Formats: sequence, structure tokens, C-alpha cells
Amino acid sequence: LNGYKHMKTIILGSGKGSNAGALLDASSQNLLGSTEIVGVFSDVAESGVLKIADSHNIENDYLRSDSSSAKLTGEDEQLWMDSLSEYNPDLIILAGFMKILQDPFLKKFHNSIINIHPSLLPSFKGLRSIERAFDMGVRITGCTIHWVNSDLDGGKIIAQAPVRIMEGDSLEIVTARVHAAEHMLLPWVVSDLSQGIIPFPK
Ligand code: GAR
Repeated sequence: LNGYKHMKTIILGSGKGSNAGALLDASSQNLLGSTEIVGVFSDVAESGVLKIADSHNIENDYLRSDSSSAKLTGEDEQLWMDSLSEYNPDLIILAGFMKILQDPFLKKFHNSIINIHPSLLPSFKGLRSIERAFDMGVRITGCTIHWVNSDLDGGKIIAQAPVRIMEGDSLEIVTARVHAAEHMLLPWVVSDLSQGIIPFPK
């Protein structure tokens, strides 16, 4: 992939969709290089991320999933693969996507999936990362964007942004700072990927 080609991009999310919103806003302002966001999909019907896509007139859909499990069933994951394949995506962005993807999916979209995580990896992998960093009393946390492989939150790091935690800060203020950092870092990385400034893995 180089800067001359359209980078067809799909966003997957499960929640509020503020990162998807940041990407769609940046896209509207032509700040994403050659990125074209072709679809937004969620494992949660009625999620904010789908509503944000709607408000930007971007194709979006709930795709079937069992809400009681951390993973998609094999059958559901196949359905996701089939649905996403139709778009021929160059890049899939996990933006607050809370399902763990498994090998068939990761193989099919090999080296084209990135994830945003609300800590400075490899610290605080997994869930409730901002809260755990806060409770641990670290003075610098942040966010990380990384390539996705089968090692949960363990793929190669693309970019990070630091966030300070100062004496007297509340969890709420730290959370807001981490989200603000995410909303700056993610569009920047996506733009750079689309222009070949950040290379895709071989
Ligand atoms: C973001 O903070 C993202 O880093 C985190 O979920 C939030 C989604 O917010 N992702 C993870 O924790 C992945 N394990 P959003 O729906 O407003 O973009």
C-alpha cells in the first residue's frame, strides 16, 4: 500500500464511539490522507458508535454476537469475516471494540488490523486500564496504537501518547485526558498509514 491508493477502512466498535467520531470528523475535514471510511460495525445493537456513523452518513450495522462471551462464536466470526470482506478493506480499526478476535479472522485480515488501547502498553493490558493505572499510582499513563495479532494487546506498537497523572487528579479527569490523547493520536496514525509514512507490516 502506498500513498497513491485509497485506503479502504472499516471501524469496529462496541461502545460510545468517541474514537470513531474523531476519525469521522477528521475525515470530513480531509485530514485523513487517502483514507476512505467505508463502514462501521458493532457487536452491540444501539451502540453510540453506530449512531455516530449514522450521523456522518457512513454505512453501519450491528453484526450478530453473543453478548455474554468475550469472543465471537466461530459461526458469528465467519459471518463478520464475510460481511467485512465485501468491502475489501485495507485497514480495520478496533476503536473500543471489546470482542477478542480469533485466528481465522486475524489470518484473513493479516497485518491490516490496528487497535487503540487506553494505556502505555505493555503496561495495563486488558480491561479497565485507565482505572488500574490510576489505582496503581503511576505518574505517566497514556494510550497506544498497535497492530493486532493473537497476543492480546501484545502486537507491535505503532504509536503512543503520554498523559500525566498529578497529585489530586480524579479518575474522571485522567480518563478525560486519556480520551483526548486518543482522539488526537488515532486520526494522525490513520492519516500516516494512508500516506505510507507509517508502513504496513510485510
Ligand atoms: C477507548 O478508550 C479505547 O481505548 C478503549 O475503549 C474506549 C472506547 O471509547 N478500548 C479498550 O479498552 C480495548 N480493550 P469510544 O467507544 O468512545 O471510542
